[in-house]
Amino acid sequence: MSVPKYKIPEMIDLPDRQWPSKSLTVAPQWCSVDLRDGNQALPDPMDPEQKLEYFQMLCGLGFKHIEIGFPSASQDEFDFFRKLIEEDLIPDDVFIMGLTQSRPHLIERTLEAFKGCKRGIVHAYIAPSDLHMKQVFGMERPQLIETAVAATKQIRELAAAMPGSDIRYEFSPEEFTDTDLAFSLELCEAVFAAWGKATPEKPLIMNLPATVERRPPNHYADMIEWFCRNFSKRDCITVSLHSHNDQGMAVAATELALLAGADRVEGTLFGHGERTGNVDLVTCINNLYSRGIHTGIDFSGLAEVAETVERLTGMPVYYRQPYAGEYAFTAFSGSHQDAINKGVHKLGEAPKRFGMGWKVPYLHIDPADLGRKFERLIRINSQSGKGGIAWVLEQDYGIEIPKAMQPELGKIIQAYSESVGREISSSEVYEEFQRNFVTPHGLFALIGYWPRPDDNDPTLIHGEVKMKVEGKEKIGKADGNGPISAFVNAVKRVVDIDFSVDDYHEQAIGEGADAQAMAYVPLKFAKGKVIYGVGVDFNIDQAAVKAIIAGLNQLGPFVYM
Ligand code: KIV
Ligand code: ZN
Repeated sequence: MSVPKYKIPEMIDLPDRQWPSKSLTVAPQWCSVDLRDGNQALPDPMDPEQKLEYFQMLCGLGFKHIEIGFPSASQDEFDFFRKLIEEDLIPDDVFIMGLTQSRPHLIERTLEAFKGCKRGIVHAYIAPSDLHMKQVFGMERPQLIETAVAATKQIRELAAAMPGSDIRYEFSPEEFTDTDLAFSLELCEAVFAAWGKATPEKPLIMNLPATVERRPPNHYADMIEWFCRNFSKRDCITVSLHSHNDQGMAVAATELALLAGADRVEGTLFGHGERTGNVDLVTCINNLYSRGIHTGIDFSGLAEVAETVERLTGMPVYYRQPYAGEYAFTAFSGSHQDAINKGVHKLGEAPKRFGMGWKVPYLHIDPADLGRKFERLIRINSQSGKGGIAWVLEQDYGIEIPKAMQPELGKIIQAYSESVGREISSSEVYEEFQRNFVTPHGLFALIGYWPRPDDNDPTLIHGEVKMKVEGKEKIGKADGNGPISAFVNAVKRVVDIDFSVDDYHEQAIGEGADAQAMAYVPLKFAKGKVIYGVGVDFNIDQAAVKAIIAGLNQLGPFVYM
């Protein structure tokens, strides 16, 4: 018989499914399994000291359920439980969780590890899928139920012997998404009955894992909705999700399954975990945050979290990782940069236009909420545009390039980036700006300019300029109706160039007594040619005349007197 290698997963029989028309408005409970599922999949698992630092970071972020290990798996794992408990390192409102297979000797060792803890969750699992039962365990369904029920009763008994500890129970039918739904339900009902003491206040956690992502996200949601609808005492269980990312859809699957009625999500920071990893909690949580949902987790220092996780796990966070990747909020292309620049400048209009405080093109969330700095937002390479370049100078140096000057600056920076053949830093942008507009090499050097109001008519200015033209000192004198027009007229006595200055733009650079003026002066030449010069000085007029000399220095060879 010839059969296909793969087949389309069967749909769940749920024609009146409700989840597609629901929306998420409240956050689920979050459970970090970094120190167990995440750690077991690291090429170099963390040592106890590293695990402790990671644990403390998770507590600081606000996680209240933290799976800290598999205490029966090794002495180190066991000792880590004992260290946290004996050295009183667990905040009072945090439940530590430990995983065990549903086997008597492992359960016994696991409960020993929990001794003396204030709040704990014992997490037992067994895989009820045909694939596991038949190919791995060689078991039949009744035997599997018997095993899970016996494990549950044993945990219940051992927990009852620890009256000072609030011990809860979590049960996972591993490979839930590859298991016949009706059988999963039968197994979970049997486990629930064996635990026998779940209440709405102290619910049993039914963790329904997509251990391997074998189905599309809508199937997971259907399975969760079906399970929630059919479980006998829904209000006495917490329905928990645990998805892996084999098809790259763990976040989508988790979100749809939350719509389907789940209450809790297990995952890891940046998706560490077996194979392609567990669902990434940083993405899940910040997705909800970006929609205005209070998550209970504080990612305002995400860069530091990423750095800590990288250091402790030895695994880098990918450049394009949502929220935390180096490029997560970076625009390289000119049109994106321009739009971001405009959007950020018009943020004040967002509340009235869009009914929300933050709405900016190409950025779905304010990077500052995650402690991300603006300097990383826009990166400059040969694809970058004038808006992005202006943004970099404004953000990093407070330089506000006038709109009309931006195209010329854009061309210069693009040519520079092409010539070096790589991304360029903001200091390189600044240096190119200085070199081309503020201190360009040319034929002229200003020695001094003395504007003096007329003794009788204060609107008339007598100007005297002393400058070098090709190294030769020259003096020009002329009048004007302001210091700048007198300067232009005086310069024209020295050099034979027909140009005018109608208006120009100034800004303050720096603050208080150290503030200087930066003048951006457009020099208009014959045939409509315009060249911008930029000058900086403590005196506004001197800044403008320096800008004019800088503009003239951008001219090529010419005839002068
Ligand atoms: O992926 C999984 O199914 C697990 C279980 C042990 C919960 O990690
Ligand atoms: Zn897992």
